[in-house]
Amino acid sequence: MSTVLALETSCDETAVAIVRDRQVLSNVVSSQIAAHQPYGGVVPEVASRQHVEILNEAIAQAFQQATLSWQDIDGVAATCAPGLVGALLVGLTAGKTLAMVQNKPFIGVHHLEGHIYASYLSSPDLQPPFLCLLVSGGHTSLIYVKDCGHYETLGQTRDDAAGEAFDKVARLMNLGYPGGPVIDRLAKEGNPQAFNLPEGQVSLPQGGYHRYDSSFSGLKTAVLRLTQKLQDAGELPVADLAASFQDAVARALTKRAIACALDYGLSAIAVGGGVAANSGLRQHLQAAAEQHNLRVLFPPLKFCTDNAAMIACAAADHLNRGHVSPLTLGAQSRMAIADVMQLYQK
Ligand code: KG4
Ligand code: ZN
Repeated sequence: MSTVLALETSCDETAVAIVRDRQVLSNVVSSQIAAHQPYGGVVPEVASRQHVEILNEAIAQAFQQATLSWQDIDGVAATCAPGLVGALLVGLTAGKTLAMVQNKPFIGVHHLEGHIYASYLSSPDLQPPFLCLLVSGGHTSLIYVKDCGHYETLGQTRDDAAGEAFDKVARLMNLGYPGGPVIDRLAKEGNPQAFNLPEGQVSLPQGGYHRYDSSFSGLKTAVLRLTQKLQDAGELPVADLAASFQDAVARALTKRAIACALDYGLSAIAVGGGVAANSGLRQHLQAAAEQHNLRVLFPPLKFCTDNAAMIACAAADHLNRGHVSPLTLGAQSRMAIADVMQLYQK
């Protein structure tokens, strides 16, 4: 059993948590959405500066919430890849420094492995193997979870991530940032069958379509064209557009996740990332999974969006297995999840 303090600063959330294996003892998340809203998206330099300003206070709060002190901590973790390098460096440098000063082992964590571990926080009985559908602002992946540190990416997006598509479509309909929650809300009042939008299939050179990969740029362009046409004709049916777009994304993700789970004989699908909050995706995936006798896990929203509890949970599992990172570990903007074990000393 390990109690880990983790820092997560890979994008626009400054997060600190303390977790004992799969039990969350404290979970502090400070969102920077307000700081980035005027720019309509995350500005990397603004994100890094905000992390520097907020991090120390967030660490103090995490200890306070958990009513623990340094002597209760077995290891210090920080997200080291993938993400915005300047932002990652803030948490990583702080984490390594604290580990050194407090004489604790340091565990670098891959952000996507963290998203996978979010499912263990809400379903502690979950055991690999299972399929993880990871849908966030930066990623859309189907990951075969074999064991701690052992993953295979079976499918991914060829262009925009699912959350990015929500954000871009919201921007072109002038709905503000972040787009996912607004579109989700509007979609509830609209007709998902109002417009026939493409599901974003990826063609194969030998003909036919890729079973697990997705593409959302064509869908985004289709919404753009439709919006321009409808705008010229009069008022924009925003709710119907939102509902039809959301339905196309939900259908695309559901079809690929179910195909993957069935082809690989996996009986559970754990969903992670901010788009896991989407009500359309939840409905489609739940219904399809029931039809095929598959278990679907949607962690609560606070564990789906970026947080440090999921990072601490992954780190605790690694620490229990003796996986520790060198203090020379650097930040990487890109890193395949298949390479996670490179973060630990042999
Ligand atoms: O996982 P996350 O907090 O951050 C990373 O990208 O790592 O995901 C944020 C993304 C944004 O693109 C946001 O628009 C989307 O998740 N999102 C949603 C919903 N809530 C957040 N997308 C669709 N429906 C939602 N309800
Ligand atoms: Zn994330």
